[in-house]
This record gives sequence, structure tokens and C-alpha cells, in this order.
Amino acid sequence: MDHSHIFIVGANGQLGTALRAQYPTARSADIAELDITSRESVENFDWSGITTILNAAAYTNVDGAETPEGRVAAWKVNAIAVANLVRIAKKYNITLVHISSDYVFDGTKELHTEDEPFSPLSVYGASKAAGDLAVAILPNYYLLRTTWVIGEGKNFVRTMLDLAKRGISPSVVSDQVGRLTFTSELARAIDHLLTSDAPFGTYNVTNDGPAASWAEITRQIFSYAGYTDSNVTDTTTAEYFAGKEGIAPRPLGSIMSLEKLQATGFESKNWQDELKAYIAKEQQS
Ligand SMILES: NC(=O)c1ccc[n+]([C@@H]2O[C@H](COP(=O)([O-])OP(=O)(O)OC[C@H]3O[C@@H](n4cnc5c(N)ncnc54)[C@H](OP(=O)(O)O)[C@@H]3O)[C@@H](O)[C@H]2O)c1
Repeated sequence: MDHSHIFIVGANGQLGTALRAQYPTARSADIAELDITSRESVENFDWSGITTILNAAAYTNVDGAETPEGRVAAWKVNAIAVANLVRIAKKYNITLVHISSDYVFDGTKELHTEDEPFSPLSVYGASKAAGDLAVAILPNYYLLRTTWVIGEGKNFVRTMLDLAKRGISPSVVSDQVGRLTFTSELARAIDHLLTSDAPFGTYNVTNDGPAASWAEITRQIFSYAGYTDSNVTDTTTAEYFAGKEGIAPRPLGSIMSLEKLQATGFESKNWQDELKAYIAKEQQS
């Protein structure tokens, strides 16, 4: 099927890579071809024939965003660049698909719904919330809020697999609770929203299955990969970061309600099944 009317921004990131696999004939760019923080570059870009922009670009270094340079960079990519894309989407009547995060919330709610008021704890979270506000002025947008993204790139599962292989027994936080989201699931949800005539607006998108802490997820990673899960010990976020400088505060509760997405006819896949398959693939490569 021809998807040349779709344009993927931030194409080399974890999600961008999954979107290019989902839409092999879509047009795409990463920062080298189009730096979306430059209003001029975005305005001078040839948008003819594009009816949908998928924005997978972001500044995702949560702790880096707490530094003086990182703060500027995070606001540029997560807020200013999004406003640049919003202007273009408005001008050419393009549908904008944008990705946001549970970090726009303080994590005190047991379950996050799409209409929860913003309460970001960190610079990254605040810059993402600003991006969300910009997107929401459009008539045609899908804003997907997700958590704990795993795909092609540096991510938590790969880090833990590497520790397991090296015989390291990690201490992992047990007070942050949520669900993994595989980039294939995000790409599938985006395609579902775009093709099912779902009402425009904000949707939570994560994998389904039992909510778990990072420590519990790590035990699953060790066990699926054939290592002893008793090598993983629990710690708290406060203990883990004690004495470390420049650490961004993290929301503890990251469980997203999937009801609104499910009401559009989308059945979210279980993260444990996806994790098992992901690890099997990693071990083959
Ligand atoms: N990762 C998570 O756990 C997580 C959790 C919740 C929400 N999210 C959200 O999910 C989305 C996808 O995240 P991800 O994990 O796929 O991120 P990622 O792997 O960090 O990818 C982001 C991509 O954006 C590119 N980029 C950065 N600045 C740019 C610019 N000025 N112009 C164009 N491209 C630029 C990056 O290029 P360089 O690498 O060259 O900088 C990178 O290829 C983001 O919106 C993120 O906020 C992620």
C-alpha cells in the first residue's frame, strides 16, 4: 500500500524506526534532513502531498533536561518544534500525530486518564506538557500518551539484558509502577486511529497486562532470558538516586487507563507476551 502521503519526523529514534517499518513507503526525515526546531526550515520544507505528519522526534534524556543546556534543548524539541509543526499542520490542513508521556503528570494518581490536569515534576515533563498544549489547538490531531517505550535503540530491557549477560546482579526500583510499551504497539495504535475514523483527540497508549514495578519487570527479563531472577533486588527511587546530582524527579505511578483507546476497537497486547518475543529476538541477533 502506498503511504507517501505520510511524513515521519524523528525517523531514526526508537518509535521512528518502528514507524518506518510500519509504513515503508512513507516519507521521513531525522534531524540531519529536517531540524524541526528551526521554524524557518519547517516553513521552507516541501509539504506538498503530505496529509499526515507522525512526530516521533523528541528530546528524551530526562536527566539531561535538568542541566542548563539540556533544559534549553528539551524545550526546543519538545515544545518549540511541536509549535512549528502545529503551524504547518494548520496551514495545510494536515493531521498531526504526536507522542507524549506520563511525565506530564506527577504520578500520584493510581490510574491516569486522558483528562487529568498537567502536574509535571521535571523539565522534560514540563516541556512535553507544553508540546501537548500546542497540539491541542489543532482541529485534526491524535495525541498519544505513552510510557516506558521499548524498541530499536538504547532502552531499559537492553540495559538489563546486558547486565544479566555480564553476571551483574542489579538493584532496581520497586516503587515506580507502570507497563512497558513496545514501539510496534505504538505504531499499530497509530495506524488503528488513522484508519478507523476514531475521533481526534488525546489517547493513552501502552501495552496491556498487569502493572508492574521496574524491579518486577527486571525479574521477568532475567527469567525470560534464562537467568536467575533472584539476582534482582528491590530498592526505592529515593535510595537509588541518593547522593546523585542532577537527577530528574520521576512520577511513581505511571499506569495509564486504556479504556478510551479500547472503546475505539483497539485491543492492546499484553506486555509480557511482547517482552518474551522481544528477548527471544534479541538473543538470536
Ligand atoms: N522512551 C521512553 O521511555 C518514552 C516514554 C514516554 C514517552 N515517550 C515519548 O515517545 C516518543 C518517542 O520516543 P523514543 O523513545 O522513540 O525517542 P528517541 O529514541 O530518543 O528518538 C527521538 C528522535 O528524535 C530525534 N530528534 C531530536 N531532536 C530533533 C530535531 N530537532 N529535529 C528532528 N529530529 C530530532 C532524535 O535524533 P538524535 O538521536 O539525533 O537526537 C531521535 O532520532 C517521544 O515523544 C517521547 O517523548 C518516550
